[in-house]
Amino acid sequence: MNISHNFFLYFKNNEPVLFNYKEKKEYSVRKEYLKTLIDHSNTGEEKTNEDIIVRDFINADILTDKNNLETPYLNYYAHIFHNITKDTSVTMSDSTEEEWAGQYLEVCKRVKQEPLPRRGKVEDFEVVIKLPAPDEINLNLVDTLKKRKTVREFEETEVDIRQLSNLLFYTFGYIHGEEEEYGEFRRRSSPSGGCLQIIEPYITVFNVEGVKKGVYWYEPETHSLCKVTDEFSYQDLRDCLAGQFFGNKCSFGVFFAANLEVLAWKYKTPRNYKVVYLEAGHFSQTSQLIAVTQSLNTWITGAFTESAIEKLCQMDGIKKIPVFFTAYGKGELLSMHSIMRKKLDEYSTN
Ligand SMILES: Cc1cc2nc3c(=O)[nH]c(=O)nc-3n(C[C@H](O)[C@H](O)[C@H](O)COP(=O)(O)O)c2cc1C
Repeated sequence: MNISHNFFLYFKNNEPVLFNYKEKKEYSVRKEYLKTLIDHSNTGEEKTNEDIIVRDFINADILTDKNNLETPYLNYYAHIFHNITKDTSVTMSDSTEEEWAGQYLEVCKRVKQEPLPRRGKVEDFEVVIKLPAPDEINLNLVDTLKKRKTVREFEETEVDIRQLSNLLFYTFGYIHGEEEEYGEFRRRSSPSGGCLQIIEPYITVFNVEGVKKGVYWYEPETHSLCKVTDEFSYQDLRDCLAGQFFGNKCSFGVFFAANLEVLAWKYKTPRNYKVVYLEAGHFSQTSQLIAVTQSLNTWITGAFTESAIEKLCQMDGIKKIPVFFTAYGKGELLSMHSIMRKKLDEYSTN
């Protein structure tokens, strides 16, 4: 008899809880049950099926004949996360289309009983910079797609504030103006789960004409930069990005943050965490294409230390978390940084 690998034990309100992450079922565990499980795990002693506790464990698939230890392709914790979030969409598939529409409306009504959490506003900040009105952009889509490339070395170059303004407006701005159909849920150029617009950009300005170095939060309603801090260096950036130095000398960068408070207002299943990253990916791709139209190179990274970014950008790490980073700037279109190239050349000649 094995203890199932589909369970883990955790504590909630000082009570032990056994969680079956495959079935998404929780069991509170009484002391004698916990003891039986610990005894079993320590000694591997065969317990008889006559033991009522053992029988309960067998019925709940906690003790099993099966060896249900899968070999996960992912890291084991990621495997658990994948299973916890799997099949957790709120489905009503055994209903007619008419019924489904009615049930969905009921869900929305329930959600709207709670007020939509307040978003940040320009009034919350002492220093606000109104960005210039965006320019018209005419892009050839296929050309733009072909030109997008991850570039890992920048040359120190001051870029025009209009380039920053255009990039922010067409990626994060309300490019459609007001649309009656959507009301307060404004659309942007990338799709957004429930149109909740949870992705918020924090701009790290290093070399932009007319904008002081620092970190700014972008406010789309007024197309403004709101100063969070002016303490931000390339070394700080490196410290945030797991030591990667490819963002050095970029003109500016964007930390894509997710507003979890707004997301959880509507979506409450574990799947909501997946939506965060899907949405960030859409916005990042859009920003890279807009960067091409502004003759800016881009470097992207998903490898970073969240807590360092949270500290520097003054996010609380609970309601708002960093999920992606993109650097923008000028230079040659090198996919490999010269330091890496040198190392590789040394290795190849040895
Ligand atoms: C989710 C995601 C995470 C990435 N993380 C990193 C990273 O940490 N560091 C890096 O140098 N590139 C990173 N990249 C860039 C990829 O290496 C790059 O997209 C790939 O080599 C293909 O090159 P291309 O973007 O020029 O088509 C990431 C890309 C994606 C989509």
